[in-house]
Amino acid sequence: AANGNKAGKTRNIVEKMEESSKNCVVFYGSQTGTAEDYASRLAKEGKSRFGLETMVADLEDYDFENLDTLPEDKIAMFVLATYGEGEPTDNAVDFYEFITGEDPSFSEASDPALGNLKFVAFGLGNNTYEHYNSMVRSVTKSLEKLGAARIGAAGEGDDGAGTMEEDFLAWKDPMWTELSEKMGLEEREAVYEPVFAITERDGLTKDAPEVYLGEPNKMHLEGTSKGPYNAHNPYIAPIAESREVFTVKDRNCLHMEVDISGSNLSYQTGDHIAVWPTNAGKEVDSFLDVTGLLPKRDAVIGVKALDPTAKVPFPTPTTYDAIIRYHMEICAPVSRQFIATLAAFAPTEDAKVEMTKLGSDKDYFHEKITNRYLNIAQALRVVGGDEKWTAIPFSAFIEGVNKVQPRYYSISSSSLVQKQKISITAVVETMDVPGREDALKGVTTNYLLALKQKQHGDPSPDPHGLTYDITGPRNKYDGIHVPVHVRHSNFKLPSDPSKPVIMVGPGTGVAPFRAFVQERAHQAKSGENVGRTLLFFGCRKQTEDFLYSEEWKTYGKDLGDKFELITAFSREGPKKVYVQHRLHERAKEVNELLQQKAYFYVCGDAANMAREINTILGKIISEQRGIPETKAEEIVKGMRSANQYQVSVVR
Ligand code: 2AM
Repeated sequence: AANGNKAGKTRNIVEKMEESSKNCVVFYGSQTGTAEDYASRLAKEGKSRFGLETMVADLEDYDFENLDTLPEDKIAMFVLATYGEGEPTDNAVDFYEFITGEDPSFSEASDPALGNLKFVAFGLGNNTYEHYNSMVRSVTKSLEKLGAARIGAAGEGDDGAGTMEEDFLAWKDPMWTELSEKMGLEEREAVYEPVFAITERDGLTKDAPEVYLGEPNKMHLEGTSKGPYNAHNPYIAPIAESREVFTVKDRNCLHMEVDISGSNLSYQTGDHIAVWPTNAGKEVDSFLDVTGLLPKRDAVIGVKALDPTAKVPFPTPTTYDAIIRYHMEICAPVSRQFIATLAAFAPTEDAKVEMTKLGSDKDYFHEKITNRYLNIAQALRVVGGDEKWTAIPFSAFIEGVNKVQPRYYSISSSSLVQKQKISITAVVETMDVPGREDALKGVTTNYLLALKQKQHGDPSPDPHGLTYDITGPRNKYDGIHVPVHVRHSNFKLPSDPSKPVIMVGPGTGVAPFRAFVQERAHQAKSGENVGRTLLFFGCRKQTEDFLYSEEWKTYGKDLGDKFELITAFSREGPKKVYVQHRLHERAKEVNELLQQKAYFYVCGDAANMAREINTILGKIISEQRGIPETKAEEIVKGMRSANQYQVSVVR
């Protein structure tokens, strides 16, 4: 409803901008936080380079009936992620339906309705999905149809090709040029204005009960954990079991059972579990050290937003240590834009020159930073040597370092078989960069590994010398716990179990298919008529990373000849054998099953795998049915839009 109030806050964006003297709003449609981070960066850049009065806004927090009354000297920006098979993110559903609906009713319905509106758009998508960036595409189309004027191209970032960051940078510069011309903005020497004020609270020590030390949800401060548990409030779940599932020394893959009994959480086969990670102690120390904050790590600080439209993204009062450990994505590769921002605060003139060069020269940045996967602390050390970067205002880190986000894993158990226990199957990611032993990849999987090792009382807790504050220093729990919530997904078995299914899941892509097979085995055992169940699995070697090799035999007993596991071991022979080769070898049966309306599923993050499967499938259909490839591709597309063919590339 227009002007409906949530905790006394207006849902009227025009009013909001008026009262806070803003002339640019950056709306975001974000599922995992990435689009939100890009939105913040745009807002910051608009402010520092052009003096725009910017604000960032969650699409969910506003109504759009009066978008037609946004004054002409103001601009709206949309940073929109496309989720799954072309869907809007949860927070953008209402906006999307309103804007793309048949006849959105605006307050004054001038003609054309949005003739006053100027907008900018950037989309985040993944080209391994069929409906690539469909959110930004259809919103742009609808806004233009309603008479709004687009400024700059509608940008499209591609997570599938791993080029999101550079796509964004390449898009934004021409956009700013066009925008500043159209709005008559003067570019100025970028001035940094902090968004947050930090005050040291001398009277308080970190032992004071009101000081937030990284407890996974705020209610834990009061010693109670209360539901409902969701993306804003994780459940601190006991880990019932954890074990290693690879049989090779130098790589780890974890199988974990997370106990959700008594939490009121529930899941369905095919859903995702979100794990809320903690940064490794070693990385926290390294960040505190290079920024000169080490001596102050436990100082109690208050953080206040100087801009009324900004939110402090964690509870306060708190400590530097807690913010960095639990809320900042300090292990991620540092962005070129952030390096450019930090140049002004370099400890020496040489460091400033170097930072400026890195910030403005894409190839140089690539060679020195991206190629070596440097995170913020490492980059600062490479540029500044032993110098500490004490001049960087802490606000710049709160604004510029991405917020820690939960990571999603496909649940590898069936809710029919184990309702109260969620299985996770996760490979522990490590960095294979020669000479970069200190590089850390897999913040969350290394954290899970540490939890597993702690649970088993492993005397040498982890291979990378990382230490973890498992669930915060005020951990009141016995045993090993992990903060989680459940995210529902559309990746689902057919409701009729007699329908055949074909699953393709190399590596840990097999996780949801363990759940599917487990479920169908259970159904078969209970006397239901279960259809053909084909699973294509690929890994390096039978003797090393063949996940659940024994379990498949058990499921096979229940499913009989309905079940078949077809393996592709890529590093056993002279030539790589992949799941798509095996699929092709089975062309005849695959085609027959598809003609019987088999459901077809793909999951996994091996580079290009999902796309290659898509191609092979077209080929199979074309060859088997004697039809042209273009026709077969149409059929494959049709299967995808009918949800008969489902893809999941959640890591
Ligand atoms: P490789 O690492 O030997 O190249 C799980 O990661 C399995 O997926 C491994 O056997 C891996 O093989 C394989 N894989 C890598 N790229 C792939 C691709 N494009 N398509 C299918 N499988 C792939």
